[in-house]
Amino acid sequence: MRDVRRPTQQDPPENPADAPNDDDRVSEERSTAVVTGGAGGMGLAVARLLAERHRVVLADLDSEALQGAALRLDSREVETALCDVADETSVERLASLASRRGPIAAVIHTAGISPQMGDPERIVRVNALGTVHIAIAFRNLLGAGSCLLNVASSAGHLPAAFPVPRHAYRVAETQPDRLVNAIMSRASLAPVRQRAGLAYALSKHFVIWYSRHLTGPLGAVGARVLSVSPGSFDTNMGRIEDQHGAGELARRSALGRYGAIDEIATVLAFAASPSSGYLTGTDILVDGGASAVMTWRDALALAR
Ligand SMILES: NC(=O)c1ccc[n+]([C@@H]2O[C@H](COP(=O)([O-])OP(=O)(O)OC[C@H]3O[C@@H](n4cnc5c(N)ncnc54)[C@H](O)[C@@H]3O)[C@@H](O)[C@H]2O)c1
Repeated sequence: MRDVRRPTQQDPPENPADAPNDDDRVSEERSTAVVTGGAGGMGLAVARLLAERHRVVLADLDSEALQGAALRLDSREVETALCDVADETSVERLASLASRRGPIAAVIHTAGISPQMGDPERIVRVNALGTVHIAIAFRNLLGAGSCLLNVASSAGHLPAAFPVPRHAYRVAETQPDRLVNAIMSRASLAPVRQRAGLAYALSKHFVIWYSRHLTGPLGAVGARVLSVSPGSFDTNMGRIEDQHGAGELARRSALGRYGAIDEIATVLAFAASPSSGYLTGTDILVDGGASAVMTWRDALALAR
C-alpha cells in the first residue's frame, strides 16, 4: 500500500525567508485528488475546491465537456482523463495515470447517470459496477489519511424491509454480471415506466452498502470511505429529472427548494479532507430535509 502523508499543522519557520512561497508549495509533493464525473455539475464544483490543495485529475466520459471543465477550473495542476467508469479497463488506466502523479489523497467518485439518461442495465453498469471498478482500481493506492468518497443518492435510502438482492451485492467484485442481473430482475417487477427509476434506486442503494462494506479493509491502512447521498440538486442531471420527480422532491423537502451546487460541493470537499479524519463507514444524506418530512413511499417515487 502506498503511504499517503497526512497533512499536518507545522510550526512556522523561524526565518520568514524559509517560508515556502506559492511556487515552492506547488513544486513540493502535492497529493492528488481524482474526481470522476469531473465534467459534471458536482464533479467540477468539488474539483474547484480541491484544486486549492491538490493536483487534480478530472475524469469523465464526455471528452468535449471534460476539456471545457479543465479550462474553467483554471488551475496549473489539473489533468484530464477520458474514462468510462462502467469499463473496468478504462478505470484501471485512470488509476495508473493518477498514481504516476504522486500520492493520492482523495478519490471523489461522482460519475453517474439518472433514470432519464439510460436504460436499466446501463444505469446499473455505470452507477453500481462503476463504483466497484473505482474501488478495485484505487484501493491499493489509498493509504493513511486518504479518502474514497462515492456519490450515491437519497433514492438509495430504501426502507430496511425493501427486498434488495444482498446475495448479489456480496459477490459484486467477482461476479459483476450477477449483480447487474439481480438488480435488473428486481427492477423488472415494477411497471415498465418505473423500471429505470427502481434500477437507479437499487444501484445507489448498492453504492451505500458497498461503501460501508469497504470500511474495514480501508480502515486497516488508515484510509476512509464514505458515501454521500444528495437529494435534488441544480445540475444538468437535476434539470433533466425536474419533471420526473426531482422537482417535486425539491419542493416537498423541508427547505422547499433545490440544493445549489456549492451546497453539495462543500460537503464533498469537507468529507474528503483531513478535517473529517474520523468520519468513515457512513452515508451523509444531503437532501434539504426531504426524507425527514416525507414518507418513504413518497420519497421513493420522487427521488433521483
Ligand atoms: N443532481 C441531482 O439532483 C442528484 C441527486 C442525487 C444523486 N446525484 C448523483 O450525483 C452524481 C453527480 O451528478 P450531477 O448532478 O453532477 O450530474 P451531471 O450530469 O451534471 O454530471 C455527471 C457526470 O458524470 C459523467 N458520466 C456519466 N456516465 C459516466 C461514465 N460511464 N463514466 C465517466 N463519467 C460519466 C457525465 O458525463 C457527467 O459529466 C451522480 O452520481 C448522480 O447520480 C445527483
